[in-house]
Amino acid sequence: MSTEPLTRQTRTDPEPQEAARRVLAASERDLQRLVLDMHDGPVQYLFAAVSQLQTAASRLRPNSESRRRVRRGLRLLEQALQEIRDLIGGLRPPGFERRPVAELIEGLAVQHETMTGQAIEIAIEPDVGDCALAAKIALYRIVQEALANGYRHGRASRQRLELRRTGPALELTVSDDGRGFDAKRVLLAEQEVGVEGGHFGLRGIQDRVAVLAGTFAVESAPGRGTKLTVTVPCT
Ligand SMILES: Nc1ncnc2c1ncn2[C@@H]1O[C@H](COP(=O)(O)OP(=O)(O)OP(=O)(O)O)[C@@H](O)[C@H]1O
Ligand SMILES: [Mg+2]
Repeated sequence: MSTEPLTRQTRTDPEPQEAARRVLAASERDLQRLVLDMHDGPVQYLFAAVSQLQTAASRLRPNSESRRRVRRGLRLLEQALQEIRDLIGGLRPPGFERRPVAELIEGLAVQHETMTGQAIEIAIEPDVGDCALAAKIALYRIVQEALANGYRHGRASRQRLELRRTGPALELTVSDDGRGFDAKRVLLAEQEVGVEGGHFGLRGIQDRVAVLAGTFAVESAPGRGTKLTVTVPCT
């Protein structure tokens, strides 16, 4: 029998909240890796294809059917490139570590206005302070999704974004006067199908909020606009 003293292996489990925060920051890193991969891979191939086809088109007989077809193909490739560029632009980190939360969110709303031509009423309290990285990332991605939903699905004529401090948390409201939807039915359906159903947006918002122990509410009804309210601890 061994006489060696038994050593007890103790492991200090990380605080669940702490672990979840790290997961959030890590998923943002994965996203940025994906952005880089898209930029360095498919985008470069598409650029090269556009340039090859431009040369080929210039050598084809003017007004020939072949030249028309190559030009049509070129326009489609250019459209694909533009769409990928817009997507990459929206995913790129806006300086999470460096910029305070209010500035990040305001910048995002202005960017959304520029991209969509849709005016947003922005009401951000002057002294909301700043949050830890995970909360900032969560709030930013939530605003991005909520504004996109209002524009894509709501076809709203007005969108409004509010940010205010309520004690140790920030309360964010994104609302629109658009078509609205049956929120109860959609949330229930998303719960059942999970991410395999093809709609990630509202599910993702709820997950981000849950990880940070915040709150989530959506008020909407067909024809009556939509109002999303989340609170996220922000210290
Ligand atoms: N502001 C809104 N106005 C009207 N309908 C909305 C609004 N937000 C969400 N919806 C409805 O709820 C559904 C679910 O939204 P969700 O963001 O979860 O998924 P999605 O936008 O369809 O897809 P994804 O976000 O994954 O690209 C939408 O398809 C739409 O019918
Ligand atoms: Mg969505």
